[in-house]
Amino acid sequence: MSCSILSSNSRYDDPVIENPHFSLKKTIIEFETQKETAESTIWAEAGDEYNVRRVKEKISAAQKEIKFSLWIEDGGEKQCITLQKILGDGGQKKAWEVSEKSALLLPNYDTDSHEIAQEYWESTVSQEVRVSQFLSKHDMLSCCHRLVKVFPNQNSSSFVYAYVSDSFEFLKSKNIYIIEGKSDKMGTWLKGNNQFLFQNPDDRLNEKCWDEVFEPLLGDISKIVTYGIPAAGDAFNIAIQAQSKTMPTSSKYQVRYFGMDFGCKSENSRLSFKERVHLPPAEMQLEVSSLVSRYVGRVMEIEFHGQTEKVDYSGLKQSLIEKYTKSIAQNLSKIKKLEI
Ligand SMILES: Nc1ncnc2c1ncn2[C@@H]1O[C@H](COP(=O)(O)OP(=O)(O)OP(=O)(O)O)[C@@H](O)[C@H]1O
Ligand SMILES: [Mg+2]
Repeated sequence: MSCSILSSNSRYDDPVIENPHFSLKKTIIEFETQKETAESTIWAEAGDEYNVRRVKEKISAAQKEIKFSLWIEDGGEKQCITLQKILGDGGQKKAWEVSEKSALLLPNYDTDSHEIAQEYWESTVSQEVRVSQFLSKHDMLSCCHRLVKVFPNQNSSSFVYAYVSDSFEFLKSKNIYIIEGKSDKMGTWLKGNNQFLFQNPDDRLNEKCWDEVFEPLLGDISKIVTYGIPAAGDAFNIAIQAQSKTMPTSSKYQVRYFGMDFGCKSENSRLSFKERVHLPPAEMQLEVSSLVSRYVGRVMEIEFHGQTEKVDYSGLKQSLIEKYTKSIAQNLSKIKKLEI
């Protein structure tokens, strides 16, 4: 998509007649207040003798009736969308479900620091969209962020840049399950399910079985280090991808890096990502080893901690981390030789 926000740091394209954040914030807060009022009214009406499940059902039905629309421009015409529910939020953003497939990421106007976040909002959006597009181009997994303009109403000429992403629920239908690095509760892997990489406990302790599961992650880590893709901090996310395999294997899943929330709370923390094959080998090696131990460690922790029987897997983990670090480092030096 060719859009000025992706190639420049300019403020808004259109003359700012009204502060678009101001009107967007006002309309969103009105909407959230209506939902909260509906909830407290139903609780109050329920009195002392209430059935929690029934009351919650009533609240959810009442809140569904409160519709709220915004207008977005997604490359073409302005279109009306409905904010359905909050999928998650953080220090800077709030993810709204806008369809069965998509989430719209808007500033989180609730936080105390929202004015600072708002000031850097364009840099954040630009960074998210640029990195996500880069990942898709290099066959890596991400939420596939798409840049949009958000208008508080149909006639408004002022807008806030934002992005639309594949929602985690939609990604499940594409056999991709998310583990969010910064939170144990969020994400779609294990959420409400007894999902494990291995069904057979012996496979879980077998190095070769883990090699099959981790194989694509090693390729992803090579690219992360080579291109300087931000994959630490908030961007430390994992995808578990179900494979349709022709040959029987111990697990139907494989582990991948998953790109989202590339971290840009302030201009100073903005990470540049570009080809970095000329970084000193020792620095690259260090990055590889830190990424491998973080990603491998987290996946194994989730797999083993979900088991009723406690097993000491520290030796196996260490052996995998050392082997993968070595293998990626050798691969990187080959890339370097080809470049020269
Ligand atoms: N595409 C999506 N589908 C479903 N949920 C999403 C999606 N994108 C974001 N979320 C949810 O919204 C939350 C907030 O998004 P994000 O982490 O990008 O915001 P943030 O302000 O950077 O958060 P933090 O301050 O915690 O780093 C995520 O933790 C996640 O649970
Ligand atoms: Mg973040």
